[in-house]
Formats: sequence, C-alpha cells, structure tokens
Amino acid sequence: MGEGATRLIDAPRLAARLGMRQLLLKNETSNPTGSFKDRQVSVGISHARELGHETVAVVSSGNVACAAAAYAARSGMKAVLFMHGMAGGGKIAQAASYGAKVVKVDSPSARTVFDLCIEACDAFGWYHLSTAGMHEPYNVEGAKTIAYELFQQTCGDLPDWIVAPVGGGGLLGGIWRGLLDLKRLGLIETLPRLAGAQAVGCAPLKDAIAHSTPFLETLQHPWPNPHSVAGGIADDILFDGHTVLPAIRTTQGAAFAVTDEEILDAETELASTEGILCEPSSAAAIAALKHLRPESGSNRVCCIVTGTGIKDLEVLRGRVNEPIQIAPNLPDLAKVLGESL
Ligand SMILES: Cc1ncc(COP(=O)(O)O)c(C=O)c1O
Repeated sequence: MGEGATRLIDAPRLAARLGMRQLLLKNETSNPTGSFKDRQVSVGISHARELGHETVAVVSSGNVACAAAAYAARSGMKAVLFMHGMAGGGKIAQAASYGAKVVKVDSPSARTVFDLCIEACDAFGWYHLSTAGMHEPYNVEGAKTIAYELFQQTCGDLPDWIVAPVGGGGLLGGIWRGLLDLKRLGLIETLPRLAGAQAVGCAPLKDAIAHSTPFLETLQHPWPNPHSVAGGIADDILFDGHTVLPAIRTTQGAAFAVTDEEILDAETELASTEGILCEPSSAAAIAALKHLRPESGSNRVCCIVTGTGIKDLEVLRGRVNEPIQIAPNLPDLAKVLGESL
C-alpha cells in the first residue's frame, strides 16, 4: 500500500455486537490534520497553486478549515476560513494554529456562508477551495482515493456495504465515483451498496431519498434550522447531491438519520470496543450501522471513520467516567477498584 494510505482495520468486537460477519473501519482519523478532508484539500490546493493563486478561502464547520490552513501553510500560501455557526472551538483553535485568518460568520446556514465566501473570492481574487463539487471540481477527486485504497487493501474483495457520514455529500459521492473508475477499468464487476448517515436535526439526504426528490429540486429546499451535536455534517443542502444521490440510488443503498443520543453513544462504543475515538459527525455512521438490516446482505461492512474525536473532547463531558480520587496506597486503590488484597 502507498505511503499515504490510511489503515483499514478489522473491528471484530463491534462486528460481533452488530451481528456482522466482518466490520472494517477505514481510519481517516490518522490523516495529517485528523480527517479525510486532507485527501480533498491536497488536490484542490495543488490546482490553486498551479493557477498562481496566493490565497485560498473555504467555508467550513471545522475540518476543511483545518486541512486548508495546514496545506496552505505547507505550500507557502495564505488561507481565509469562513467558519459557520456549527464550528467547534477545538477545530477553530487548530485551524488558527496554522496561521490562517479565521472569520466566524453568524449564520447556521452553510449556504448563506457560501454566498459570502464566493462574493469575497470574486472581489479579492482568492481561490475558492471549499469541498463542494459544484463550486470546486478538483478537490472532490481526492475522496475517490478511499475507494482505490479499499480495493487494494481488500485485494479486490470489496465489502457488501460502505457506510459514511454525509454533509454536503462529496465524500460518499466521491467514493462512488472512485468505485465507478474501478468498474470501468474492469477491476470490479459490481459495486458495494452505499449508505449515508445524517443527524435527525439535519437530514436532507434521507428526505431526498425517501421522496425520490431530483437533485436540482433539493437545492430549492434547504433544511430549516439545522441542529445537531454532529456539526460537521449539518449542511442544510446537498452541495454534492449530483453525486451522492445517484450513489445511493444506483447501488440500492440507503440513507439513515440518527439522533444525537445515538451518535454520542456510538462515539464511546467505538472507542471502548475498538480503541478509535472519532468525532460526533463521524460517529453518525457508526450509529447508522445498527439500522442496517441483516437481510439486506450486510454481512461485510466497511464504515468510513472520517474524523478524530480529539478535536472535540467537550462533547464527552458527563458521558465518560470521572477519574476516581485516591490516596497513594494499595489498600485505597484496591477498595475503589473492587479488588481484594
Ligand atoms: C468528520 C466529517 N465526516 C463527514 C463529513 C461529510 O462529508 P461531506 O460533506 O463530503 O458529505 C464531514 C464534512 O465536513 C466531516 O467533517
């Protein structure tokens, strides 16, 4: 496997709990800035540089901002980050640490912030690097590499289902496009079924799939008042609906919406069963695994673990055990741990 590939991890304990023959986790938390967005931004910023731009700008709830800021620093460019209402403090601090200019825009709607970013890029000659295929067609190509790596890492024996969290849809849509490349090359005959996970508080994908809504129509109806602990996927419209909708429809896939409670439970369940701490937006896909029905042939499943939980530890407050205070002696330790001496 190439040097930059992320690990594909067998998760036998979680698989047993879910009644699956095999659960594979594509661990995107180990990318340089902690999320899969590095794959996309590294492609887009190369294009920006090729065109001679000095400054890139993105709209983000956090992860794209961190990736854009880090890759801009690495290539000697400047980054302006438009963070919308869902952006968490840990991610803002991480993004700022790379020396980018961070602007917090007072709006819960990703689309409103996009409009401002586009206006600014036009006015100041910046390159628009947001990971939304309809605005920037290069960086979405980076998500395809997940499909290529999966093919290599499974020696061509792809799983029955691939499950990923969905915000704008570029990730799952990109994986689908990568799988189509493999098919066109004659490397695979059939595609795995693709499933997208969203939060109940912002579920335009689930809605569009349930009502067979055409992509262009989805753009007319932004999700009203998006809210969720999974801020990274709370996009009010499907910026990449032109790929994520056919990805699900043509593979007989599925779209799920999970509650914040399910998301936070899934985050700690993954951490305690398999030792991987992901962020809530990523945990939405883990939570969705419980909604996959065994009769749908979900024996071998791959879940994309998209971002690290280390960026957002605040959400765990009150949900994990507090440390037990003890005096520095063995009897005290034995007592609190219920061990006999
Ligand atoms: C951690 C995480 N997972 C999943 C997604 C969803 O990706 P997409 O917007 O491409 O659907 C995002 C988007 O920002 C994210 O930050």
